[in-house]
Amino acid sequence: MPSKKQLELLYLRTADEIAQLIHNRTFRAGERLPSLRRLAAERKISIATALAAYAKLESDGLIEIGAKSGHFVRRQCDQLPIRPRQRLHAAPSRVSVSSGIIAVIAAMSDRAVVPLGGALIAPEYLPLRALNRSLAGLARASLCGATYDGPRGPVALRQQLAKRSLRWQLSIDEDQFVTTVGAMEAIHLSLSAVTRPGDAVAVESPAYFGLLQAIEHLGLRAVEIPAHAERGMDLDLLQRALRATPIRACVASPNFMNPLGALMSDEDKQRLVALLTRHDVPLIEDDVYGELAHDGSRPMPAKAFDRHGTVLLCGSVSKTLAPGYRVGWVVPGRYQDKVESLKFSHTVGNATLPQLAVAEYFESGRYDRHVRKLRSNFARGVQRFRDAVVLSFPRGTRISTPRGGFALWVEMPRGVDAYTLQADALRHQIAIAPGPLFSARRGFRNCIRISCGYPFSPRASAAITRLGELAAAQLG
Ligand SMILES: Cc1ncc(COP(=O)(O)O)c(C=O)c1O
Repeated sequence: MPSKKQLELLYLRTADEIAQLIHNRTFRAGERLPSLRRLAAERKISIATALAAYAKLESDGLIEIGAKSGHFVRRQCDQLPIRPRQRLHAAPSRVSVSSGIIAVIAAMSDRAVVPLGGALIAPEYLPLRALNRSLAGLARASLCGATYDGPRGPVALRQQLAKRSLRWQLSIDEDQFVTTVGAMEAIHLSLSAVTRPGDAVAVESPAYFGLLQAIEHLGLRAVEIPAHAERGMDLDLLQRALRATPIRACVASPNFMNPLGALMSDEDKQRLVALLTRHDVPLIEDDVYGELAHDGSRPMPAKAFDRHGTVLLCGSVSKTLAPGYRVGWVVPGRYQDKVESLKFSHTVGNATLPQLAVAEYFESGRYDRHVRKLRSNFARGVQRFRDAVVLSFPRGTRISTPRGGFALWVEMPRGVDAYTLQADALRHQIAIAPGPLFSARRGFRNCIRISCGYPFSPRASAAITRLGELAAAQLG
């Protein structure tokens, strides 16, 4: 017969082990735990001890008794969807996000910090060995580097991109590509080609902060068009903005926009292109996340509906192969001459070797298998991070349900300030991106973006738990 002391240890150990399983998300928020009878049988303990273990977990706030009896892992916040915003401010705003971006970038290079801020990808998810081997082989085998590639970039890469365009439901000739230093340069060149300083540019709200920074540096102004967390840019509001304000360009990311992960339907992509064409406004389409659908499909870019060459399609391998290679491209449509001339005047052309290594990787036939694996890693990772937020963040928190990519958008109750949370989190060696960085008008003060490009490790799990506690502490 166990002593009273032994029984006490037994129920505490049982409670502790179940708590571990909840913290590492083996038992997920909302999931039913084993019945008392089963727990007792499995652990060879009495029902009274099993009951004491559950009572301890309940008093620790980790589990609750469900409406239909049984014990369930407690959700802190219900899985509420992000609320669509309907207020349009058609007056263009000046943008000033640069100083905030510097803080996010500084945290990106600190290995002691849990990297939930910048859109970084775990190196083990990327085929870096194959690419680096290819690059070294190319360097040994040729006198590559003796000359400039010219503004369009090496034909070997453009041919591979032209072949790949068939999978995007497009048929783009190799001469229609201009290779760039990542998608960021593609967006810069596109904006420069179609606007002049002072012009107004329509952007999604929230929008990727790098885009807002480009708008800031080019002396442009932004008109923020609210985006729906699942469907992307609100086209009725875009239509209203186009009527109310002279808009010179629109930048959108219909496939898995960053930070919401929204996917625009093909009908809406068609409507978007038609609407902008009617108003004679070019669309700069950022498709960097197009390959990263969680369900494995490859949605077409809005460019597929472009009949007049007014969509400038921007992409890169930064989210699929190697961000450090800085290999990107733009298909500038009717702005090709202008973009080529700008590219030449900025940088003449890209560095040759990384582009050739990427071309070789595409040609090797390994790309599709790699991307299939990458997508499933992101689908699983985002889901686990999401579950962790549900478990840890205060009630009333809303979370996006991304269809692709690896960003999560978290809207906390109004009393939580994202900048305060960012500063508190950094003191605990956790990086996040505060919501106002994604807005020209500095909205989204109670929102953050959590980047899920690294596996959901115990360290990441503990970081999410801590973020939830820090957010709750602000609510008092
Ligand atoms: C939506 C979006 N566009 C563009 C970029 C920049 O891509 P690149 O690294 O190829 O310049 C990023 C990077 O995070 C992004 O999230």
